[in-house]
Amino acid sequence: MRGKSWKAPFAVVAAAFLALLPSQTAQAEDGYDLWLRYAPLEGAALERLQAFNPVVHFDSATPDSETTDIAIAELERGLASMLARPLADDGQGKIALHCADPALPADGSFRLAGAADAVTLLAGSDLGCLYGTYALLRELAQGADPRSLNIASAPAMPLRMLNHWDNPDGHVERGYAGRSIFDWWHLPQRMDERMIDYARANASIGINAVAVNNVNARAFMLEARYIEKLARLADAWRPYGIRVFLSARFSAPRDIGGLPTADPLDPAVRAWWKAKADEIYAAIPDFGGFLVKANSEGQPGPQDYGRTHADGANMLAEALGERGTVIWRAFVYSEFDETDRHAQAYAEFVPLDGQFAENVIVQVKNGAIDFQPREPFHPMFGAMPHTRLMLEAQITKEYLGFASHLAFLAPMWEEVLRADTGHGATVAEVTSPVGMAGVANTGSDRNWSGSDFDQANWYAFGRLAWDPTLSSETIAREWAAQTFSRAPAFLDSVVPMMLGSREAVVNYMTPLGLAHLMGTGHHYGPAPWVCDLERPEWNPCYYHRADANGIGFDRTESGTNALAQYAPAIAAQWADPASTDPIWLLWFHRVSWDHPMPSGRSLWAELVHRYDSGVAAVDAMADSWANLAPFVDARRHRAVTENLAIQANEARWWRDASLAYWQSVNGRELPAGTPAPA
Ligand code: GCU
Repeated sequence: MRGKSWKAPFAVVAAAFLALLPSQTAQAEDGYDLWLRYAPLEGAALERLQAFNPVVHFDSATPDSETTDIAIAELERGLASMLARPLADDGQGKIALHCADPALPADGSFRLAGAADAVTLLAGSDLGCLYGTYALLRELAQGADPRSLNIASAPAMPLRMLNHWDNPDGHVERGYAGRSIFDWWHLPQRMDERMIDYARANASIGINAVAVNNVNARAFMLEARYIEKLARLADAWRPYGIRVFLSARFSAPRDIGGLPTADPLDPAVRAWWKAKADEIYAAIPDFGGFLVKANSEGQPGPQDYGRTHADGANMLAEALGERGTVIWRAFVYSEFDETDRHAQAYAEFVPLDGQFAENVIVQVKNGAIDFQPREPFHPMFGAMPHTRLMLEAQITKEYLGFASHLAFLAPMWEEVLRADTGHGATVAEVTSPVGMAGVANTGSDRNWSGSDFDQANWYAFGRLAWDPTLSSETIAREWAAQTFSRAPAFLDSVVPMMLGSREAVVNYMTPLGLAHLMGTGHHYGPAPWVCDLERPEWNPCYYHRADANGIGFDRTESGTNALAQYAPAIAAQWADPASTDPIWLLWFHRVSWDHPMPSGRSLWAELVHRYDSGVAAVDAMADSWANLAPFVDARRHRAVTENLAIQANEARWWRDASLAYWQSVNGRELPAGTPAPA
């Protein structure tokens, strides 16, 4: 197979190449190709690659595998597309793959070294060669000189995982890009080609694990008929280095197993899960394991039987044994807790530190509430030294304007990854030995993510899980160059626009540490006035606590004292409004409307100022984008322009509705100089 793919006669390759061209061009403009467009090079970059004249080689020690076949095919596809001609049989510049180098670990690590007449790709495994291939193409797509490449790369996190909140009926919970990409109805017999393009996209950014179904799981996904479907996907994705996981409903032994209980300490329940695991492994030998949401938002769990999270997780861990991993989510809260939702997960989990089995991972959201535009890091990070903790981020923008608002999320994840937990490590250091999960933003829309710029969030997630030290700027730059245009004038304008976009959303939605003010249920648009929902912790007014005297949530000693869950140095810094960064002020403190801010403004004036700057930033994004028309195909340019018009309207909606509400509470005039509402 492998020989065929790279030794095919020139004429055959050329014909195939020409046949490919028109569809590639069409696809480039509807966003389907994501960052893997391999747009033809121009100028000096093209001349360099032409002079290098690449041809693909591999050494005889490299095992013949589907993965190396994919790497070679990808190289040929990418290089030919960037050269705008098929590779020549007699090319001089060898791209030499050595995929079984014993000096390199088999975890996907690779090295790329350029020389006058060769680029050497060394890896300890064929998967490392695939990752190296994508890295090489990424560099070339940005115009790099193949001869001067010098990259050594190793994945920082072993588990780099997407969590799909896709339901088996095709609806995606919190999905804004159409229906689910998984066609359970027709599997296993029919598998959409899109499943391969999906795997390619994931492999290109190092994603190596996928939980295919919603954490609010249907038990029947564990039935034999679904295992067969999942096995087809697992087979298709295996060569791309992707392991499949299933979200498991904790009550499955009752729901589909005919048992009277799902008590994790009941021997019949344990036997049921063991048999279920055996059944799955018979069909999918490298099945990753179970992802579990238990005793949260009404989902069943071990506490229904008076057992702990550790009892529940360990029971499943025993069923999987050494074959797989239980990923147990720490996103738990219930209406019966009357203190502070912020404090619940820590209170339930930290006392269990050291009690989880070795093949259990506890997956913790970046913040203690729920994927808000800005949250301080979750206090569980660093507080469970004897438990494997993994970071959960949300790629789909549930609370950041869905797919219509432009918000590049790398700065948000960078903020949390770099946060010092006060326990002697940053969040990235705590989670790197384990992994990072991202709630996927994919859907059936032609452009996968609902908008062109939301593709950048999928991309950024993978890149950061591979290397959490990458800067948002680097990621934005490489994504934009591959996706739109590598012209420096384009990048110099679009990258700052992307980098400021999330801060703009924070400012026009929830400035100064405000949170959870979105419309109930759908989470789109402002609703700070909602106060009458049955569950107190779902009311926006539970979070802002505004009245005539002030605004904000007191989480210090005089309030709920949730702050005490942070390491002492961090808690001390945030205990005093004066030493609290204004971005967290109303998250931890309740202050008067006249509270003096570092800017010299009062809290009220500062709040108004932040809303205005959020709106102004969106207008500036729209202006920048308008000037970038020469660099982007008309179709994608228009699509982004239209979304920015929606965002400009809705930023004003957020600002004006929020300010009108705060004014109804505090009875104050807008500070002089505030623009009139739209
Ligand atoms: C949020 C989201 C839910 C989701 C939940 C979770 O609350 O709105 O749709 O199920 O998070 O992470 O489990």
